[in-house]
Amino acid sequence: MNKIERGSFGSKLGAILAAAGSAVGLGNVWRFPYETGNYGGAAFILIYLGCVFALGLPIMIAEFVIGRSSHANIDGAFQKLAPGTQWKWIGRMGVLTAFFILSFYSVVAGWTLEYVYEAICNGFAGRNPEEFVVSFEAFSTNPWRPLIWLVLFLLATHFIIARGVEKGIEYFSKLMMPVLFILILVLVGCSVSLPGASAGIEFLLKPDFSKVDSNVFLAALGQAFFSLSLGMGCLCTYASYFNKDTNLVRSAVSVGLIDTFIAILAGFIIFPAAFSVGIEPDAGPSLIFITLPNVFQQAFVGFPWLAYIFSLLFYLLLAVAALTSTISLHEVATAYIYEEFKMPRKRAALIVTCMCIVIGVLCSLSLGVGKQISLFGLPLFDLLDFITAKLFMPIGGALMAVFVGWYLDKRIVWEQLTNDGKLKVASYKAIIFILRYIAPAAILVIFINELGII
Ligand code: PHE
Repeated sequence: MNKIERGSFGSKLGAILAAAGSAVGLGNVWRFPYETGNYGGAAFILIYLGCVFALGLPIMIAEFVIGRSSHANIDGAFQKLAPGTQWKWIGRMGVLTAFFILSFYSVVAGWTLEYVYEAICNGFAGRNPEEFVVSFEAFSTNPWRPLIWLVLFLLATHFIIARGVEKGIEYFSKLMMPVLFILILVLVGCSVSLPGASAGIEFLLKPDFSKVDSNVFLAALGQAFFSLSLGMGCLCTYASYFNKDTNLVRSAVSVGLIDTFIAILAGFIIFPAAFSVGIEPDAGPSLIFITLPNVFQQAFVGFPWLAYIFSLLFYLLLAVAALTSTISLHEVATAYIYEEFKMPRKRAALIVTCMCIVIGVLCSLSLGVGKQISLFGLPLFDLLDFITAKLFMPIGGALMAVFVGWYLDKRIVWEQLTNDGKLKVASYKAIIFILRYIAPAAILVIFINELGII
């Protein structure tokens, strides 16, 4: 096989839904509500919106420019746009990041399948709060059960990726994103109509600026990065399948709006339900696996069938959201292997799946029986989370902003943003200014702060 056949998205809507699918994931339904709970509700949301629109979107546009102008995987993209330079290492770091995130993310995604299964079997009914804690701990540290779900989740991801860009990624994104949206709306409807839900709604809408300090800005910026899938090549890879009349700026705004809207709707599921039973929504990582099933049981006491449906739909929602994100991570690595090592797409996908199963199994075990599977004093699971979300993604994002802002020929940037002069882009100068100065500086600040240097 000498010439690689590249796929492409068949429609603009398909392209936007695929990119939105990458962005919408566990980050929206779990991390965003929990961060909002910790950092003062509406005030955090306002700052988060500022981060998404002022910094996240310009970086997303930079990724789109890199992807569509090169029509290549993330490593090939830098080799084409900056031949003979060291910029290719940003791409390679992106591929590594995709492998790592996919491995630990699939562990949690597998847990969502266990919870779907429990919900189907009505396993949450009649449990008291301690039983939820005990059963989650027993499950997540069990040597076998989480591995089965992890492998199943990766196989589902593999199946979609092996079908290709249009028949796999685009087809399933078009199918899953509307399902996800309907599930969310039904759940919001149920949650806000619970007695006492108004306290939760008020928490989301009434900003309390007394809690705002520099940490809130940093948390909001970090959340925006993770949630928009920035800094590691997912969006570059997807943009390499965009066709030439896709409007990059408008697509980025659509993805940003969908991602933010879904995160806020997730808040409207979780806070009204939690406040209605008097539970503080700041439980951290265990929020969706320990606090929420308990909240659902208590909130619908007297209506066991409603508790059943609500729990089932919620975990189904999580699984679907996670799947649209894992396919985007898988594609970064598959496209790289397939194009750079010139092998059939299916074989490339199989290599990625097998490697992620191995790393994923180690990550999962590192939370239970294999506590000794640790490096630098951290279990593998936490280590991979740390080096990707806290190191590689911000570094990658800042470097991509610098690459498009300073290095890349401005004619290419202009042609990409205006589709060869066919579109008027009023924000062109502002985008370049942010990429050159604001984004690298802001990311440097989060980065330094997260490492605890200041
Ligand atoms: N954005 C996804 C989420 O919110 C996570 C993700 C990060 C997906 C990086 C792809 C790349 O869950």
